[in-house]
Parts: sequence; C-alpha cells; structure tokens
Amino acid sequence: MTAEDLDDILDIETVSFPNPWNRGMFESELRNPVSFAYTLKVSLGGGMALAGYIVFWVAHGEAHILNIAVKPEFRKQGIGKTLLAAALDMMQRNLVYEVFLEVRRSNMAARDLYGKFGFKEVFERKGYYGGEDAIVMELTF
Ligand SMILES: CC(C)(COP(=O)(O)OP(=O)(O)OC[C@H]1O[C@@H](n2cnc3c(N)ncnc32)[C@H](O)[C@@H]1OP(=O)(O)O)[C@@H](O)C(=O)NCCC(=O)NCCS
Repeated sequence: MTAEDLDDILDIETVSFPNPWNRGMFESELRNPVSFAYTLKVSLGGGMALAGYIVFWVAHGEAHILNIAVKPEFRKQGIGKTLLAAALDMMQRNLVYEVFLEVRRSNMAARDLYGKFGFKEVFERKGYYGGEDAIVMELTF
C-alpha cells in the first residue's frame, strides 16, 4: 500500500464499514514501523483496479489484523482469502506464533472467512464498536 492507493482505498473503506478509517489513519499506518499494509490489484479494462487491502501489525511474535476489505463488486471471488493467506504467510516468515483480530458479532462473512483459516473465537469485548460487541479471534501457528 502506498499513498497513491489511498483514494481508491477510502472509496472501499467508506462502503465497507459503519465506522470507516479516515485518510490520516491509513497514512499513520504507512509510517508505522510495525505495520504491514498491502493491496491486491486485478487487471481490468486494460488497467489495474484496486480490489482489496489488508493492514496488520507484527511485534514480538504476535500479529494483529487491523483492517481487511474487498471492493463490493469483487467480493465472493476469493480475494479476501488471497489477502488473508498472503498476510498469514508473511507473518509466519516474520516468526509470528499468534494472530489476533476483532470482528463485529454480526459480520458473518468475515467470521466465516477467519474460521476457514483456523481462527478460534476466544472472547468478546462488550460494546467495542459502540452499539455492538466484538468477537476476538485467535490463530496460533
Ligand atoms: C469479509 C470480506 C473481506 C471477504 O472478502 P471476499 O473477497 O468476499 O471473500 P472470499 O471470496 O475470499 O471468501 C472467503 C470466505 O469468506 C466467507 N464469506 C465471504 N463472503 C461471505 C458471505 N457473504 N456470507 C458468508 N460467508 C462469506 C466464506 O467462508 C468464503 O469462503 P467460500 O468462498 O469457500 O464460501 C468482504 O466481505 C468485505 O470486504 N467485507 C466488508 C469489510 C469487512 O467486514 N472486513 C472484515 C472486518 S473484521
């Protein structure tokens, strides 16, 4: 992910989340030394289209997935799986042994996706998203 990707990313972000990240939050991840941020681009109409992105932190053998989203018209085509698989591969190469993330209780698409990669639902954070609880999921390698 680079600063040039942020217009496309913000378009996806705003339609994907009730409390979307703003430009400053993505810019701060691009400067953060523990943050890994990647996009997935697909060829479309002779050019490249940004189809999805993922942001995660790696520190002291632990990783935390902060953000993952796929542009609505590209969903259900394996892009989320591809982004997550690539991120988990990078984490393992960076000696991560434990991965955490939070997901809205109502977000069945994401919970199902994480479950397919072996993430387990370990506890809840009540009211984490204001009106909604977060499910904390963990994967150990
Ligand atoms: C969650 C998200 C990233 C999945 O991306 P995607 O590219 O559509 O996912 P994939 O096509 O790779 O699907 C992978 C798996 O996710 C699950 N999944 C995806 N969409 C689903 C849906 N609408 N309902 C139920 N399960 C779904 C399925 O387990 C699917 O595996 P399958 O194809 O074998 O059924 C995408 O729906 C999205 O951007 N959502 C909005 C942002 C978001 O909620 N991010 C997660 C925050 S924790």
